[in-house]
Amino acid sequence: MKRNRQIKVGVRRTRLKQKLEMTLEELTMYLNELIDNNPVAILVLDPKHHVQMCNPAFERLFQYAREELMHANLEDLITTNDLTSEAVGIWERVLRGEKVYASTKRRRKDGSIVEVEIYGIPLVIKRKLIGVYGIYHDVSQRKEAEMEVRQLSAQLLKLQDEERRRIARELHDTTAQKLVALNMNLTKLKALCAGTGPEAEAAISDSLDLVEESARELRTLAYLLHPPTLDDMGLTSAISWYARGFAQRSGVQVNLDLSSDFERLPRDVETMLFRVVQEGLTNIHRHSGSGSASIHLAADAEQVVLELSDQGRGMPVNLQGATVEQLGVGIAGMRERVRQLGGRLEIVSDQHGTMLRVLQPQPGVSE
Ligand SMILES: Nc1ncnc2c1ncn2[C@@H]1O[C@H](COP(=O)(O)OP(=O)(O)OP(=O)(O)O)[C@@H](O)[C@H]1O
Ligand SMILES: [Mg+2]
Repeated sequence: MKRNRQIKVGVRRTRLKQKLEMTLEELTMYLNELIDNNPVAILVLDPKHHVQMCNPAFERLFQYAREELMHANLEDLITTNDLTSEAVGIWERVLRGEKVYASTKRRRKDGSIVEVEIYGIPLVIKRKLIGVYGIYHDVSQRKEAEMEVRQLSAQLLKLQDEERRRIARELHDTTAQKLVALNMNLTKLKALCAGTGPEAEAAISDSLDLVEESARELRTLAYLLHPPTLDDMGLTSAISWYARGFAQRSGVQVNLDLSSDFERLPRDVETMLFRVVQEGLTNIHRHSGSGSASIHLAADAEQVVLELSDQGRGMPVNLQGATVEQLGVGIAGMRERVRQLGGRLEIVSDQHGTMLRVLQPQPGVSE
């Protein structure tokens, strides 16, 4: 044991000695290797904004040779006119000692535009600010992929809307009509079978009840899937109208608290909020077991707030805070619709009920 410890202490001492023996030259070489081989574009600017040093990744990213960059004013080379003041602002903040992050665009030598994340770090040596480090990360591919995903989900949501409209029409026009016919036939049969014995009569009564129940469920389903008539009505009236229809069909009592002094919101925001009401009420009907629901809608100059709550059993514990893949299409779709318009969806759920809240900034106000 003791010998082992002695060996360990010995090894540690040797390592420490080796470290101390690293000469300044070695350290510089080590640092240069790290910067030269770094895949991330790095440069150093002096306080007057002239390039003091840059690595090969920087040359590759912006297509300038080191000789062209050295001592040049950086923004003359890589910043488009419309972003000059933004770039100057970034470096002024860094020169005041702040670490700055920016997600923006810069120009390559051939004029093409590259999406970059910039980290500006004050370069302080012996407590004196002698310049700034700039780290440039090319995020064009990531941005492009994000854009594609966003477009794809917008397209999927549109397809979902169309598909629902189709299913609602189909249910209403064909299946519901057939149930009406079935109901008529059974009623006729009931009359014909009168007096043929309790078993046949009970079976027919049962069947009639089943048909009526199925027709009611189908009507609720078709109603829940049906597209809103928002354009003429406006959001507040559409929600009241829809909630009334929902309450009649589902038996869930809906309390409304909708602010009336409401300007019309942009069409896509109204559609999104309506969809959340529709999807939320569908969930309340299907999952909550609650006999009542409340919808609250209010707006101020900053944001629109929509709250939809029930007094039901709450979401299963394993789903609270669940990831998108674990949830159904409903909540994931709502979240995506809200996100696409710059808003936020919050869900609070426990054994006393569930509340959905949408916080949507007013047009021109960013969160
Ligand atoms: N108001 C609610 N009360 C209780 N549980 C809920 C409520 N809303 C949602 N849930 C639970 O969250 C799950 C996910 O809801 P989501 O709307 O995403 O999917 P879904 O309703 O199951 O299916 P889909 O909406 O795709 O038809 C539901 O399956 C249900 O377990
Ligand atoms: Mg759902």
